[in-house]
Amino acid sequence: SAKSEKEPEKLVLFHERFFMTRQVPIGVLISGSGTNLQAIIDAIEAKKLDAKIHVVLSNRADAYGLVRAKNHGVPTEVLDHKRFPSREAFDQAMVDALRAREVELAVLAGFMRLLSPVFVSAYSNRIMNIHPALLPSFPGLHVQRKAIEHGVRFSGCTVHFVNEQCDEGPIIIQAVVPVFPDDTEESLSARILKQEHRIYPQAIQFYSEGRLRVEGRKVFVDGVAREENQVLVQPPLAR
Ligand code: GRF
Repeated sequence: SAKSEKEPEKLVLFHERFFMTRQVPIGVLISGSGTNLQAIIDAIEAKKLDAKIHVVLSNRADAYGLVRAKNHGVPTEVLDHKRFPSREAFDQAMVDALRAREVELAVLAGFMRLLSPVFVSAYSNRIMNIHPALLPSFPGLHVQRKAIEHGVRFSGCTVHFVNEQCDEGPIIIQAVVPVFPDDTEESLSARILKQEHRIYPQAIQFYSEGRLRVEGRKVFVDGVAREENQVLVQPPLAR
């Protein structure tokens, strides 16, 4: 009977050694409401995302995302950019904070400051951002409104690696949503945000599994299905 008690234990050890993926240590940078942060926390708690948030960094003390972090026992830190003499000094302080907590991947989630080369070179290919448009269309701010005003039929969201130009780095994953001529900024933003919450945890999970390879502008994702017929037409073709 001593033997039969030991067997399951051995199995567990085997399972942990060979199937346990590592929890990639991430830092999430926010400036505001933090619904993407919430989606990341939820995916981790649901065990769909093998990551651990070592710190949530905010440049604003009143960012609601800080409350979300505290509600889930996630450490937070506020670095007010206005208290630093330059963008570079602020970025260095962020890099120091992330390194002190052994963060490997910096995840920008509604973080409203541009990054200088000080940050980008310290975390080269290890910074992700999410943008509420289909890059390279509509970089910058108020992009949901710009998409409606332009009359595009589709918009969406993009997770990309961050390089030294704003909203320009290699694209990891995008989701597409329809845009209707009578959309408001609010209705389109909500439609896009829902998809942001799906693709950001997925992008981080790809990273965690070591499936992302960057070659120039292109990001190759190992082992994903190739759906050649995944076509959207808006308005839909008449039958
Ligand atoms: C999102 O629309 C994101 O794409 C943009 O800022 C917004 C952040 O929202 N970069 P939240 O703070 O995650 O709710």
